[in-house]
Amino acid sequence: MQSDAEVLSLLMGRRAGYSLPRAFYTDANVYQSDLKHIWQKEWIFAAPSAEMPKTGNYITLQIGDYSVIVVRGADGAIRAFHNSCRHRGSRICSAAKGSAPKLVCPYHQWTYELDGKLLWAKEMGPDFKPADHGLKPVHCETVSGMVFICLAEVAPDMTELKKQASRYFDPHDLANLKVAYQSTITEQGNWKLVLENNRECYHCAGSHPSLCRTFPDDPNLVGGDDSAASNLGLEHVQRCEAAGLPSKFLIDPSEQWRFVRIPFLGNAVSYTMDGKAAVSKRVGTVPFDNAGSCLFFHYPNTWNHFLSDQVLTFRVLPVSPTETEVTTTWLVHKDAEEGVDYDLTRLSEVWIHTNDEDRQIVEENQKGINSPAYEPGPYSMAQESGVIQFIDWYARTLENGLIGRFRIAAE
Ligand code: FES
Ligand SMILES: [Fe+2]
Repeated sequence: MQSDAEVLSLLMGRRAGYSLPRAFYTDANVYQSDLKHIWQKEWIFAAPSAEMPKTGNYITLQIGDYSVIVVRGADGAIRAFHNSCRHRGSRICSAAKGSAPKLVCPYHQWTYELDGKLLWAKEMGPDFKPADHGLKPVHCETVSGMVFICLAEVAPDMTELKKQASRYFDPHDLANLKVAYQSTITEQGNWKLVLENNRECYHCAGSHPSLCRTFPDDPNLVGGDDSAASNLGLEHVQRCEAAGLPSKFLIDPSEQWRFVRIPFLGNAVSYTMDGKAAVSKRVGTVPFDNAGSCLFFHYPNTWNHFLSDQVLTFRVLPVSPTETEVTTTWLVHKDAEEGVDYDLTRLSEVWIHTNDEDRQIVEENQKGINSPAYEPGPYSMAQESGVIQFIDWYARTLENGLIGRFRIAAE
């Protein structure tokens, strides 16, 4: 077990361009540091707003010890609350998702409005003030159809992300999509291994036969830099931009999030086995089928693909030092009918295969790192620039959190 001081010293002693020391993938104290300084400080992707289309629709999620309810109110706004009753603390919602006209605690039936106000509590006496016992709010922002929450007292500023997300996402009109399918898997691996694996396609040719039918594994397209380094990428960006579809590589100064629109291979237009569209109704105002995929990541917990016929969101949540939950949501036009406009197997099979292949990769990676013989190895500059970029962001963010903690302790 590593103390905070030891975590900081390990972090500062790490070798840049190399995978992290073993403790970062295995140790319970490093995991607690990750939760405290990253997962409970940064904005976390919770769900697409389309997963909660109606009043009373809710989801719950667990971030370390925090259980959070995200719910759509009668006014249409999506809000988040701590899932802990203001009476004696029971969890109010135990399901991963559901729908309810009010939030009723199962223990003694204290009843809350969907905006968190306490509406009813039995026989609490004349001095009891319901207004003092509303659900505790959690920061919640809907970013062009993607709902983010933040557990920090003061949430990081989201102004620029919201502005840019509106440019890149609005043509896909997330508010007018519906959930066609969703899968949740638990991978036996540290959350950083899941993110690292996502940030490179060095492994794709050897592992993803279905995905590689349509997805280019060119590191110039999917790495840490501008896709203009690839002729194919540059042409695609120019064609889409000329049609009014924001597509240029854009990364924020802290490198926490990035947008870029990349082409599919050949004539492919979607993630299907034959490359043809999976859904006959195009989403939003995307002007043509072959718009490729607009890739958006936001650290620490989401990567996404915005296509002409569907939007795929991915949510990563840590479960333990060596377990991570990955939820994939397939969104299609809200008027698209299953069996008429799309076939569910055709729509979902490529990423169901891909997720399972990635799960096996991550689990083998974790097992190998569990060995005391593991030592950090070098990333390929040509193939793994995206991993280097993620690990550098992680190291900077954790270091800032740990240093801030020691500074406060010293004052
Ligand atoms: S703990 Fe919720 S009503 Fe008692
Ligand atoms: Fe993969």
